[in-house]
Amino acid sequence: MSPRVIAIDGPAASGKSSTAQAVARRLGWAHLDSGALYRAVTLATLDHLEERGAGGGPLWSPQRIVALADQLPVRLVLVSDVFKPEVAGVDVAEAIRSARVTRRVSEVAAIPEVRQWVNAQQRRAVEGHPRGVVVDGRDIGTVVFPDAPLKVFLTASPDERARRRLAQRGDVIDAAELRRESDALDARDRADSTRPVAPLKPAPDAIPLDTTRLSLAQQVDQVVALADQRLPR
Ligand code: DC
Repeated sequence: MSPRVIAIDGPAASGKSSTAQAVARRLGWAHLDSGALYRAVTLATLDHLEERGAGGGPLWSPQRIVALADQLPVRLVLVSDVFKPEVAGVDVAEAIRSARVTRRVSEVAAIPEVRQWVNAQQRRAVEGHPRGVVVDGRDIGTVVFPDAPLKVFLTASPDERARRRLAQRGDVIDAAELRRESDALDARDRADSTRPVAPLKPAPDAIPLDTTRLSLAQQVDQVVALADQRLPR
């Protein structure tokens, strides 16, 4: 039986999480933001592991990162149908959005052992949920839930994504800031798309949705309409 999952993938700031959360609410499902889990592992790594040992050897080894994530633990806690990231029992929903985490998350997310660990958490979360879960990320439709009955690949133009990211942070939107943000998003997308393991790309059966000219309400309506067709309730 295919999992009760809607997979929403796409590049940074394409509106995945806001869309996924609103779609989940409309369907009475839960929402899981897989990027939040990668960010929580990155935060834990930055806070607890030195990058280099006394002899210059790497301490950010895959084994140490995964052991740390198990021990602290880094986990997802279901609160009102939203999976929230926690590190050592503390809600880190805000801390994981810092520039410090954003700068390093692609590096941590490129480690195959970290991806396996994150994927196991996601599959467990979905198995344990009685209705269904809208999961957003980069590899949900290609790797984590390849049998998901509905996969959507969201895109938006680089300028629009940069504008949304600045607006979300309440920052001034001038030409220089837009360029800087657009370059930062572009660098992260390039890192996420060119890594050897689970690169960002649409699944062959994903439905592309360009949201550049859509409001959030419009994109949510489109995904809910697709869900109504594909997942008879
Ligand atoms: O969606 P986000 O920007 O919060 O994701 C943070 C990083 O996590 C992103 O740069 C790539 C990585 N990520 C990933 O590799 N696979 C996913 N399924 C989700 C996120």
